[in-house]
Amino acid sequence: MTILHIDSSITGEGSVSRTISQAIVSELTARDPAARVIRRDVAADPLPHLTLASYADTAVLDEFLAADTVVIGAPMYNFTLPTQLKAWLDRVLVSGKTFRYTEAGPEGLAGDKRVIVALARGGFYGAGSPVAALEHLETYLRSAFNFIGIEPEFVAADGINISAEQKASAIDQAQGEAVRLAA
Ligand SMILES: Cc1cc2nc3c(=O)[nH]c(=O)nc-3n(C[C@H](O)[C@H](O)[C@H](O)COP(=O)(O)O)c2cc1C
Repeated sequence: MTILHIDSSITGEGSVSRTISQAIVSELTARDPAARVIRRDVAADPLPHLTLASYADTAVLDEFLAADTVVIGAPMYNFTLPTQLKAWLDRVLVSGKTFRYTEAGPEGLAGDKRVIVALARGGFYGAGSPVAALEHLETYLRSAFNFIGIEPEFVAADGINISAEQKASAIDQAQGEAVRLAA
């Protein structure tokens, strides 16, 4: 199995999404010690914004296509994904490669993969929250991966900026979920 491990948080060691994405990868590799892990840190080594010229370079797309499982650390920044992660997605959502347009509508072509996303959000955006309509991270990533034929799985650590207690319990709960997902 090839695991592509992507992180996008700018906060380094203290990052919650990095902690959770690493927990998921560690659980997956504990169960499959022969798994190969490819690392892509788009915060430490950012991809440039997409240009017509860079669109022709398929290295990032090929790396994605070669992976069996993709684990992504995705913090919420200003209600959505970090721009660094968007630059990565811009190279992965490619007509004719990961989806195609047909007369019956768009068709995903990348459905042979598992995608697991470790979300970290400062607040709460669940149904009933007064800011639920501002949630454009999980909803966007679900739509984008659905579009290419993948039903992504999410492990969320929420309310990170509310209190130290909430942060600790959200990380605990997400780490437990990581074990369950990898089992
Ligand atoms: C630049 C920036 C923007 C943020 N915007 C939001 C936001 O819109 N909504 C929210 O709930 N939390 C927001 N947060 C809080 C982060 O989502 C939270 O701290 C989370 O833990 C970040 O993930 P990380 O720990 O992996 O860096 C923001 C944090 C930063 C640094």
